[in-house]
Amino acid sequence: MRVTELPIWARLENAKSAAEAVSMRSLFERDSARFERFSRRLALGPSGSLLLDFSKQRIDEGTLSLLLELAQDACVLEHRDRMFAGERINTTEDRAVLHTALRNRSERPVHVDGEDVMPLVRQALAHMREASEAIRSGAHTGFSGKRITDVVNIGIGGSDLGPVMVVEALAPFTQEGLRTHFVSNVDGTHLHETLRGLDPETTLFLVASKTFTTQETLENARSAREWFLGRAKEERHVAKHFFALSTNEQEVTAFGIAKENMFVFWDWVGGRYSLWSSIGLSIAIAIGMDAFEQLLEGAHLVDEHFRTAAPAENLPLLLGLIGIWNANFWDIGAHAVLPYDQYLHRFAAYLQQADMESNGKGLRADGDSLGTDSGPVLFGEPGTNGQHAFYQLIHQGTRLVSCDFLVAANTHNPLGRHHTLLLSNVLAQAEALMRGKTEAEALVELANTSMPDERKALLAKQKSFTGNRPSNFFLYDKLDPRTLGALIALYEHRIFVMGSVLGLNSFDQWGVELGKQLANKILPELEAGAKAGAHDGSTTALIEEVRVRRGLTQ
Ligand code: F6P
Repeated sequence: MRVTELPIWARLENAKSAAEAVSMRSLFERDSARFERFSRRLALGPSGSLLLDFSKQRIDEGTLSLLLELAQDACVLEHRDRMFAGERINTTEDRAVLHTALRNRSERPVHVDGEDVMPLVRQALAHMREASEAIRSGAHTGFSGKRITDVVNIGIGGSDLGPVMVVEALAPFTQEGLRTHFVSNVDGTHLHETLRGLDPETTLFLVASKTFTTQETLENARSAREWFLGRAKEERHVAKHFFALSTNEQEVTAFGIAKENMFVFWDWVGGRYSLWSSIGLSIAIAIGMDAFEQLLEGAHLVDEHFRTAAPAENLPLLLGLIGIWNANFWDIGAHAVLPYDQYLHRFAAYLQQADMESNGKGLRADGDSLGTDSGPVLFGEPGTNGQHAFYQLIHQGTRLVSCDFLVAANTHNPLGRHHTLLLSNVLAQAEALMRGKTEAEALVELANTSMPDERKALLAKQKSFTGNRPSNFFLYDKLDPRTLGALIALYEHRIFVMGSVLGLNSFDQWGVELGKQLANKILPELEAGAKAGAHDGSTTALIEEVRVRRGLTQ
């Protein structure tokens, strides 16, 4: 049954209608304990704690309990338990969903088809430790005996976005003299510009692809190998400079990478949930395996919390339900992730795939339509940059955007007043979105100016803000591997909760297939001597135009 057909859905719609008349300002005025009521803390061991403030959402106690009822009626927690138990909840691909096993730091076994996968996970981690330590210490050298100075991860989507985001986020933990690069785009410019200035003798390539059939990655890997052999000359040297991170041994071998240089993972790890697996080898090399394991610990803390905390205390559950409340009841079609943390400058790009590839679907897992909207558009930039770009629309546009603000209380780089300024900005933005500014307040601000009253009235209109724009606020002590692991896992489970409520399969991605199929059809039509095949008038004309501009037709 569609979630929208559950009686609780109609009750929530009524609650939304009633809430329209209530401003967030008045909710705060009425209840001095609103912050305590609508915030939660999650202990992160040696990394302090994470505070989630969701008091600047358009909810009250009544809505919150209705949302928790929705979770119950939509069987979200049963679905969660089935995921952790290794059931094949990715039904369209007939796979279990167990990225949580990759960061299971407990002794608890995790079964897939009756087999405990934890020994395999530990073995894969040991392999990563051995390789990353050898590279970091200089024990693993290039073919000419020189130390590796540059690691190039070649991968795309989940085999790129997670690793690059984490390596950037944890820059203060990286080793001097060992640089990490990421090549994803099939546009040759990406590889060319990355390799410019690198030395084949001291460069290690990690070819990261779950399937090892992805067009972009294989093309980049082939060109990288040519570049490398241009200097190394002999095929046998490839072994020291090319590692494969994949589930597909057959394709890895066919590509010419030896089995011992393959770092494995399994089909029960979704691509966009794979940074915790061997796909994270670039992270382990950059920050060291101990720090990588702290990242896993942070995620494990959140997994345990999600698995066991009471619903009203359960952060991912609350975040997911608030996400549904905003997107499906208030019709807020866009969600902005706004880290006031320069180290998280790739966080929104990473979450774009995690969220939109997971929940950007119009059908339920049983094939029926959702009956409501799919997950929202996700975007974001670090603060304060975003303030000078798209915040105008967030404050005064007619389309509503829900926001997540993230900030560290303390910085890795104490420099003058920078961090205090950063903090004042993020706090101000969340306050401004909630409070807004009435026309009367704007008029008071203009009172002492000499302009005519008419102009004052006009300006007061332009300078007023509706407010009532919802945001979550995440505050952590300092961005370290454990905190980052926890943040990522929180978002992963938020996505899970939203997908579960909607009844869709968050773990397949059929929507990316059509473009791939058509690109394969068009590819030969762009070669010399070929003709455009059967397409619509626009596509045929564009193919022809490209051929003319490239000198492929007489
Ligand atoms: O294009 C979608 C996708 O399948 C993603 O889900 C995945 O992360 C990416 O391609 C890369 O896939 P692979 O790791 O198999 O190369």
